[in-house]
Amino acid sequence: MVFQGWNCYNNPRNENQNKKQEGYKMKRKLISALLATAMVASMVVVPVMADEETEAATRLPQKLLQKLLQKLLQKLLQKLQQKKNAEPVANPDLADKKVGVCIYQFSDNFMTLFRTELEDYLVKLGFSKENITIQDGQNDQATQSNQIDAFIADGVDVLIINPVNTSSAETITDKVVDAGIPLVYINREPGEDEEARWDENGWDVTYVGCDARQSGTFQGEEIAELENKGDADGDGVVRYIMVQGDPENVDAQYRTEKSVEALKAAGVEVEELTKQRGDWDQTKGQEITANALSQYGDKIDVVFCNNDAMALGALQAIEAAGRTVNKDIYLVGVDALVEVVENVMNDKMTGTVFNDYFGQAHTAADKALDFVNGKDVDNVYMVDYVKVTTENAGDILEMIK
Ligand code: GAL
Repeated sequence: MVFQGWNCYNNPRNENQNKKQEGYKMKRKLISALLATAMVASMVVVPVMADEETEAATRLPQKLLQKLLQKLLQKLLQKLQQKKNAEPVANPDLADKKVGVCIYQFSDNFMTLFRTELEDYLVKLGFSKENITIQDGQNDQATQSNQIDAFIADGVDVLIINPVNTSSAETITDKVVDAGIPLVYINREPGEDEEARWDENGWDVTYVGCDARQSGTFQGEEIAELENKGDADGDGVVRYIMVQGDPENVDAQYRTEKSVEALKAAGVEVEELTKQRGDWDQTKGQEITANALSQYGDKIDVVFCNNDAMALGALQAIEAAGRTVNKDIYLVGVDALVEVVENVMNDKMTGTVFNDYFGQAHTAADKALDFVNGKDVDNVYMVDYVKVTTENAGDILEMIK
């Protein structure tokens, strides 16, 4: 597997992002150099060989290339691991600063990992645990809006908000800014127009998350990189079902769109059998997949799920229907929950995409701290996703366990 650099998001307001882009360019240059070396090696050897020898000779540089790429990937994972383990220097002046955190819904598996890491890291930075309050919005915007009002009345020093509905971001921003409280949005991106407003007005508001387009593309590529490009029944068309998250969410929209786009870009003919909302929920993922399997049967080649919880549900349905992932059907999710990464390692799921909650939680906490310290903060910070397939699932598991 190749660690993919990502270049579709190049926000000129985000200096870190630009630095990252430079990093990706370097990675890409390195990968191109490796590929070029392998090509040159094969060109030198091939013309003077008989057929069998030719084959053996081309295998050699390919193996060399694979080894080099694996090393490169390992280095990148090591870097991620180092970032995850980096201990910040705690700041004693923060002990009396109040942090209000709003999570859209506590029962969401991924957001549980995120909020646990966020709280731990805020404490490592020097905020005291008693002064960090985390509220469950119970997937209801009215409930969350009341929680935000209560935080404002309490005079918190900074707010970190994972909105229930991103369409409410404008209203939320206005009241938090009016109260003079800096604001860090996480996980659900409010949208470019809203972000432009913060920038134009010079408000202390930022978004920390990932570019959902990248995760969708990675899912599609994971299928396209299979030997049969996901065409389990070999009839020339990849028929898929799409299990969507909450469609109000850009993560659901982009993952749905970009996964299929990547598959088509690889020259695959595709047909969508059904697309249904599973609201990020395992039980709904199971129900949708079970119904689709009884309706479309063996026609289904691929099950795309916008997240891992729904993919775990889909796996239950696939197994109950007597189908076998990676033999007669393929299944991909996003998040890299431990159970899913283990399944990928054990050939029970095709792949997932690591949604780096360490990177997102740490950046969100760092930016909250910068706001409290009166430092300049950009309007958007993006953390990279990482493809997870059998080739690197072991390394990813080590990092998240
Ligand atoms: C996504 C994640 C989902 C769900 C969603 C909530 O980034 O992949 O599992 O947690 O956020 O907004």
